[in-house]
Amino acid sequence: MDGPILSAGFDVARIRQDFPILSQTVRGKPLVFLDSGASAQKPRQMIEAMVRCMETAYANVHRGAYHLSEQATEAYEAARAAVARFLNAADPREIIFTGSSTMAINLVAHSYGRGVLRPGQAVVVSEMEHHANLVPWQMLRDDTGIELRFCRVTDAGELDLEDLAAKLADGKVGLVAVTHMSNVLGTVTPAQRITAMAHAAGAKVLLDGSQAAVHRQVDVQAIGADFYAFTGHKLYGPTGIGVLWARLEHQERMPPFMGGGDMISLVTQERSEWAPPPAKFEAGTPPIIEAVGLHAAIDYVTAIGMPALEAHERQLVDHAMRRLSDIEGLTLLGRAQDRGGVFAFALDNAHPHDLSTLLDRAGIAVRAGRHCAEPLHARFGLEAGTCRASFGLYTTEQEVDYLADALTKAREFFT
Ligand code: ALA
Repeated sequence: MDGPILSAGFDVARIRQDFPILSQTVRGKPLVFLDSGASAQKPRQMIEAMVRCMETAYANVHRGAYHLSEQATEAYEAARAAVARFLNAADPREIIFTGSSTMAINLVAHSYGRGVLRPGQAVVVSEMEHHANLVPWQMLRDDTGIELRFCRVTDAGELDLEDLAAKLADGKVGLVAVTHMSNVLGTVTPAQRITAMAHAAGAKVLLDGSQAAVHRQVDVQAIGADFYAFTGHKLYGPTGIGVLWARLEHQERMPPFMGGGDMISLVTQERSEWAPPPAKFEAGTPPIIEAVGLHAAIDYVTAIGMPALEAHERQLVDHAMRRLSDIEGLTLLGRAQDRGGVFAFALDNAHPHDLSTLLDRAGIAVRAGRHCAEPLHARFGLEAGTCRASFGLYTTEQEVDYLADALTKAREFFT
């Protein structure tokens, strides 16, 4: 695969050339795409890898003893190995491919939640969870009687670790399921510390890395957690593929989530036996082409280097913080010490949908609403929602300036 076009250091202008969609104009204005937190744009290298797979090396996997199927199986398993390296997992068998990070979390809620956790135990989530890491636990609570506890978020938008300690204190918590980076506040949570606290209280840890895996180098062994979920489409890969990293010892104890082909070792009319992990959790035809795309996306960001990507983002975050803080009437949500490139904001007298429509007229794409985090918006008294600008590796300071200038004009419009 061709690598990203790079010159010395991090050259965002050259990187942008890899993303065909970014050269578009919208309503006669250059596209300013600030909705990468919802779904990131795709580099040519990733698009071409998927096309090449379909044109030259596609068949179903694990099911054919013929050349094309063997090639596709190799590509699929190579993607698993690439994900394992990306997360610094100890073993590729710890990687389960799912359809999304939502599905990965649902897998844990169904399988670990119903198969391993017991009534009388509790699950701790936080007030800043995306619905994907909240609703499955509410469903578990309603089905099983397992208690659901909410760890508070401070006014600065950080996880309140004193409250977490209090929630863990009675030793009843079986699982702490929290985000590694908020999709609204940009807060990066102290994953290692949370894990140490949870383990000391006898609880396991699931981290929702849907945002963090895009913005930070993730090392699951250093963090020490038990489950880690992320998705392909926010990491410059395709939709339709998610990842669950799960320690093998947990996978062994967990019943399957879905039944079907490829997850069994034996089936009779009476009963079935399960295939070993991770196949036990990959029923049916898996996302083969998407795995190839995710592999290419991982190769793409790895070639740039996560540290370089993080450094670029830190500059953008500082710049955005300066520019957006200067706008009168603009409330910025979240001022965590450790934060990534996600900024949710509300402008006085402007409904977020109206504001995003106005920004769209300037070619600026932001998300408006509650960003699948309604309890968090309620926590900050912003039930009507916010607008959210979220950055990708192709975002520039100039784009942040366009946004700040457009918001300043919008302020005049809505006053
Ligand atoms: N989870 C995506 C977001 O935060 C859709 O926007």
